[in-house]
Amino acid sequence: MIQQEKPTFDSLKQWKIFEHVPDVELKHIYKKLESRHYDHEETIIHEQTLGDHIFILTSGKVRIEKNIGEDRSEIIGYYDAVGGLFGEMALLEDKPRSAGMVADSDCTVLTVSKEDFLELVQSIPLFTLAVAKNISQFLRETDERLINELKDENDELRQTNYILQETQEAEITKERLALIGRMASTILHDMKNPMSTIGGYAQLIKMKKHSQDQLGDYADIISKQVIQFTKMAQDLLAFAQGGEQMQLKPVQAVEYIEECCDSLELKFSQRKISLERALDFQGEVRIDTGRFYRVLENIAVNALDVLNDDSHFIVRTEKVETGIRITLEDDGPGMLDEVKENAFKEFYTFGKRKGTGLGLAIVKRIVDEHDGVVSIESELGVGTKFIIDLPAVGHDLLPKSKHQIPIPFEKS
Ligand SMILES: Nc1ncnc2c1ncn2[C@@H]1O[C@H](COP(=O)(O)OP(=O)(O)OP(=O)(O)O)[C@@H](O)[C@H]1O
Ligand SMILES: [Mg+2]
Repeated sequence: MIQQEKPTFDSLKQWKIFEHVPDVELKHIYKKLESRHYDHEETIIHEQTLGDHIFILTSGKVRIEKNIGEDRSEIIGYYDAVGGLFGEMALLEDKPRSAGMVADSDCTVLTVSKEDFLELVQSIPLFTLAVAKNISQFLRETDERLINELKDENDELRQTNYILQETQEAEITKERLALIGRMASTILHDMKNPMSTIGGYAQLIKMKKHSQDQLGDYADIISKQVIQFTKMAQDLLAFAQGGEQMQLKPVQAVEYIEECCDSLELKFSQRKISLERALDFQGEVRIDTGRFYRVLENIAVNALDVLNDDSHFIVRTEKVETGIRITLEDDGPGMLDEVKENAFKEFYTFGKRKGTGLGLAIVKRIVDEHDGVVSIESELGVGTKFIIDLPAVGHDLLPKSKHQIPIPFEKS
């Protein structure tokens, strides 16, 4: 800061603040008035100090700063009203400065001592009014600036919120499309099964003459497969529209498994593999009959892929503590440990030319949806056993800790 030559007495009246101060008082002030120059970035007022002057800005721009701790300060505004007062509040309130003032450019100011200032405020109402106007103008400008800042922040927030919402929606759509894609590949996989059954029966009908009864049986099986196929298509649609609807209903377990075996029978007899049944269970299970058939079918089709003619495939049902246990057992080559560990994972296939690796992932998923547990026991050269435990009607849900294999196919 350097003191510089005072302006002439006559020029004081150009500043609004002195407009109404009578010459006698003004002369008195003029004597003690200082004109100062501050360099750019020089501190004019230190925060928290007790003020002994007020300042009249005669040129330049001042920055108002507030300490926010750790030697850091925040800009809370600027003051560039030439002829306006600053630094008067602390004098009026007789409190330490609540903010600091820094020259935001080279500045010149006139200073009036605290005593003179207070004397003028007390004795000249028009001067007091000019000070009050100065204060209220500053407050109004600060208000407007804060409101504008708030508005800008609000707009920014709204914009961020909007972008966030858009991103979220895009994410959900992406996830949904991925799930629909997965579901579609599942359905396409499972379409192979009813299609091959229908194809098989169509060929059988063509091959030789059949009794009316036999033809009726074949027609029944074909229409069951068509129903099964339609169900899958409906699943896909339902899924695309927002989730598959499980249709669990209580059924007589043995009766239902028997029917499933009937539907699988042809696939086995064509290969001269016996499908044996040892069905023992009194009671009902809650099952989505269409969907659960795919569990048995996928396991059976896998067995057919590895079994030699004249092998055996046995379907058992029995009562266990938690409900019903369905076991599907073959006397095929068995699985390597690595295959057993990964068999339920999506797209895991081993030793097949055309396997998509979805069959057992679907099995796992459907059993999960029935609150059941599926596991594999397999021994090389001996055979493979799929064990499915389902809660029977009247039993509590199976504890999930019984899952032996990590869930490969997350529920949508
Ligand atoms: N009964 C079984 N005996 C031996 N290995 C089996 C048996 N069942 C399944 N596997 C093995 O488990 C793997 C995974 O079976 P999964 O049904 O999931 O897929 P995939 O049959 O290869 O293909 P997809 O069923 O999708 O056409 C099979 O590739 C096969 O190696
Ligand atoms: Mg398979």
